Amino acid sequence: MPRRVIAKVRRWVTGKKAIVVLLTGVAVGVVALSLFGTTMIYTSTEAFCATNCHEMANNVTLEYQGTPHDKNRTGVRATCVDCHVPNSPIPLYIAKMGALNDLWSHHVTHTIDTREKFQAQRQKLAQRVWTYMKGNDSRECRHCHNPANMDPEKQSPVAQARHAKGRREKMTCIDCHFGLTHELPLGGPGPQELDVDRSLIPRSAIF
Ligand code: HEC
Ligand code: HEC
Ligand code: HEC
Repeated sequence: MPRRVIAKVRRWVTGKKAIVVLLTGVAVGVVALSLFGTTMIYTSTEAFCATNCHEMANNVTLEYQGTPHDKNRTGVRATCVDCHVPNSPIPLYIAKMGALNDLWSHHVTHTIDTREKFQAQRQKLAQRVWTYMKGNDSRECRHCHNPANMDPEKQSPVAQARHAKGRREKMTCIDCHFGLTHELPLGGPGPQELDVDRSLIPRSAIF
């Protein structure tokens, strides 16, 4: 049986049609890869994340507008993607898979289709972001803010004292800097009260 199969394959591979099938395969591969790349880029734009669905446009996006990460003296910004989408490939792919869940609740289950429903989910959603950021030592914040390059001399005395405390007590950025871009949920634990496995945080990364 296997020998017959091998003979069949051999005949087929040496036949005239094989080259056509091979070229079609390559063409399909190129198209699929381009579609994949385009989707990855398009779903990582501010336009897509901030305004493409009403859940974001009517809630977090309105709140973000005018905050220091959106508008400031120098015009250097952090947009949705900078804080919510990882910069390295594996965490990026995992995050994109997680976003499929959001598509499902948008199109199928309609979990959050009013402002009231959004507010009701807020504690859960915020807590998810805080847990994630505590677990990776605020990796996305650190992509822009490098504590080694922060000049304490140029910070306010309050910031200096707090950052020294953060270092001493091995805290991470999100422990203190939450609610920077969005309204906070009413009630429930904040990032400092959340219990997260700190062993996930690389020791060298604690500032
Ligand atoms: C894409 C880069 C980028 C990312 C990512 C980013 N920031 Fe910023 N952040 C900035 C810039 C630029 C400013 C300065 C804005 C200005 O000039 O006032 C800033 C300002 C700040 C300030 C000062 C705000 C104020 O009131 O003046 C804090 C605090 C801060 N960031 C914390 C964070 C935290 C926490 C995170 C992660 C959740 C984060 N940033 C993610 C670029 C970034
Ligand atoms: C223990 C709490 C705490 C931790 C942890 C912490 N900060 Fe701060 N940070 C503060 C306080 C308080 C201020 C001053 C806020 C003010 O003056 O209104 C501040 C100010 C800042 C500012 C503005 C500085 C300025 O002069 O305008 C930036 C940027 C900032 N922090 C980034 C970070 C980043 C990035 C991390 C993580 C690497 C971090 N902070 C960790 C409490 C903290
Ligand atoms: C500077 C970093 C930063 C930027 C920029 C940012 N976010 Fe967030 N986002 C956070 C943090 C931190 C939380 C957790 C709650 C909090 O602390 O406000 C959060 C929470 C959320 C939540 C959960 C609901 C909630 O309010 O807690 C959603 C949804 C969200 N962000 C979407 C967006 C969208 C859409 C944009 C762009 C318009 C955006 N974010 C821009 C840092 C950011």
